[in-house]
This record gives sequence, C-alpha cells and structure tokens, in this order.
Amino acid sequence: MGRLRYLLLIVLLLPVWLPVLTLGFLWFQWPIWRQRGRVSGTAYEPFGARLCYHLLGSRPDPLSWQLAAGLPATRSWWFRQLALPLLTGPSRLAAYTPSFLHYPPERPLTLTDLLAARTEFHDRALVAAGGLRQFVVLGAGWDTRGFAWRSDPQRKVFEVDMPATQAVKRAALDKAGIDAARVTFVACDFQRQSWLEALAAAGLDLHQPTFFLWEGVSMYLEEPAVQETLRAVARLPEGSAISFDFFSHQWLNDSWTGKLVRTAVHLVYGERFRFGFSVRPQVTTALELYLQESGLQACGLVLREAVSWGDQRPGSVPFGGAAVCVADQVRATGQETRRDGSGSQPIPASSPGYTQPSASGSSGPRRVASGRTSSGTRDS
Ligand SMILES: C[S@@+](CC[C@H](N)C(=O)[O-])C[C@H]1O[C@@H](n2cnc3c(N)ncnc32)[C@H](O)[C@@H]1O
Repeated sequence: MGRLRYLLLIVLLLPVWLPVLTLGFLWFQWPIWRQRGRVSGTAYEPFGARLCYHLLGSRPDPLSWQLAAGLPATRSWWFRQLALPLLTGPSRLAAYTPSFLHYPPERPLTLTDLLAARTEFHDRALVAAGGLRQFVVLGAGWDTRGFAWRSDPQRKVFEVDMPATQAVKRAALDKAGIDAARVTFVACDFQRQSWLEALAAAGLDLHQPTFFLWEGVSMYLEEPAVQETLRAVARLPEGSAISFDFFSHQWLNDSWTGKLVRTAVHLVYGERFRFGFSVRPQVTTALELYLQESGLQACGLVLREAVSWGDQRPGSVPFGGAAVCVADQVRATGQETRRDGSGSQPIPASSPGYTQPSASGSSGPRRVASGRTSSGTRDS
C-alpha cells in the first residue's frame, strides 16, 4: 500500500520532481567537477546518503546537516532546501522508503544498499569502541562522527585526509559554525607518508588503545598502502581496532558491474578504484589467509568480525564487505610483549579496548570465534 502511494505521488509530482532534481543534481555536481582530481568527490556519496537518512529520520545526523551548509557542493539553497527535501519528501508522505534510501539497509543486500550497509557496519563498530579514549578517522572526507564522539571531553579525536580535501572540510566547518577545535586534523597521503608518524607528531598517544575508522577508503589505495595501514594498527596496544570496508577483488576486476562502476567513478570524480580483497571461498577464510600470508597476523593483527555483501551463490560474486581487525599480539602469536612503530619498544595497553558489538538480528557483523574455524560471512 505504501509503495503504491509512493509511486502515485512520484507520478503526480513528476513534472516538478524531474526538473528540480535534475537542476539540483547539476548544482551539486558542478563544484565537484571544478575540483575534480584535487578534492575528493567520492566523499560526497556517503555524505549525501547520510543527509537523506537524516531527512527521512532513520538515522538522525544533525552535524552532517549543519556541515552541508558549508561544503561547496551541498551549501546551495537549491540543493538543501529544494532538491533533497523533494527527493525524500514522497517517502515521508507515503510512509514508504524505496530500497536505495533505506537505512538500515533492506536484506538481501544489493549494490544500491552499499552506503547504508557500510554506515550501519561502522556505526555499530563505533559503539563497540565506546570504551576507548582515542578515535582516528582515516580518510575522513565529510564524516562528522568524530565530532559527535568528541562530546565526551575525555576523548581525543583525529581526522586524517589528503591535504586539499581536509582544507575544504576545515573551511566548511568554519562556514557552518561547527567548532573544529574538537578534532585534531592531520594532512597525509596514505600512499606516500606514514600516517602513524604524522598522528604521533600531532599528539596521538601510542600507549593508548585506539579505534580507527577506515570507511570507504581501502579501494582507492594500492595494496602496499592497505597493508601498511593494517600493519600500523597491529603495532599499537592491545585492544586497538580498525573497522574498514572493501570491494571484492573478484567483483572489481571480473564482473561487468564492477568494471562499469569503476569506469563511472573515474569519469565522474577522477578517482580510481585500485584494490579489493578476495572474498572467496568465504570472506572470513579469505581475510584470515590474507593476514597470515602478508605477515600481519604474525605482527599481532587478528580478524574479529567480517561480513560480505552481495550475491553469495556459487557462480556469483559478492561485491564487497567489511571487517574489524584488532591488535591482539598474544592471541595472534602467543608472545607476551607488544612493539611500537620502531619495532623495539614494548607498548603496554593502559585502558580497555574494543569490545564485541551485540548482534542485531541477522544483519550485523558476526564474530570470528577463534582461529580459522568460524565463518563471519553473511550471505545476503
Ligand atoms: C569515499 S571517501 C570516504 C570518506 C569518509 N570516510 C566517509 O565515509 O564519509 C574516500 C576518502 O578517502 C580519502 N583518500 C583517498 N585516498 C587517500 C590517500 N591516498 N591518502 C589519504 N586519504 C585518501 C579521500 O580524500 C576521501 O576523503
């Protein structure tokens, strides 16, 4: 019934809807296009999704809404007050949300649910990291979670991103009236610099367990930079954790949808997908094998949870997934000491670490119990 109401509304509104949304889209794309190749355009994708969830009331995010008033592509009146409300209005009026705007995502998951699935996974991981005092957003883009997390003054928050993208965000925060002093900004290119050294220089305490959010970034990096990021987390105190998502290697390189999305993202934003993790035969076994073969497990990194998204049937390719890895030297190697970035000094943990998030029905990440025995793969 809701769906019928929604479709009727769309048909009725179409003469207004179509031109306003088209103009809103162009208004949105133009500043992105002008800064193409310098400032991340793909950062607007998850941000736009979060704005929609906010307007639909399914994931309130007032800080993102506030930040939208400062960012080049979203600050126009046309986009925020006309196009976005028109996009989400029919859903509210009809009390029906189409799949691509649904938060949390509907199951089974398809590619149009990617942003909702990602957001849901990392939101839950962040709750599990609630006991930690340090939070780092790697490749932060327009994410505002760090600002919300910092509402507890005991906590330290760092955002790392490419210099030009970070400069745009800082200017936008200023324009939007959000107190940027709550977060320490660290400009760094993961492909060229050690973000851990840059963070340590900016005040990250390497003796405290830290939570790293690495949302929507691994696919833009070469494999050595991906591995180096995970290795840096492995060296940190027990209880440190990283929550990340990825495309599947098989989907990105072998499927026509993967190749199409890859080409479209490059054409529109000038950004390249470079890396995907294997998800065969199952995401958990594949990731654990990767940790072993790359020596990450020997460094102290343990897979805590893993999910894969998309079609899991034989002959089909899941398009991606997400995982949480924790620094757990004792379980990974049986050794009793930890080492810092120089590989010489033990770094003992001095506060509680990442805990297991509670499962929410069949949709949440599943725990990898121990060793290689249990599967975190969610068939969806
Ligand atoms: C798709 S956006 C995701 C932004 C944010 N994590 C979110 O989910 O809203 C990818 C982000 O990764 C950053 N990024 C990509 N390659 C990077 C690199 N080599 N070094 C640092 N940041 C990078 C981009 O600047 C951008 O902010």
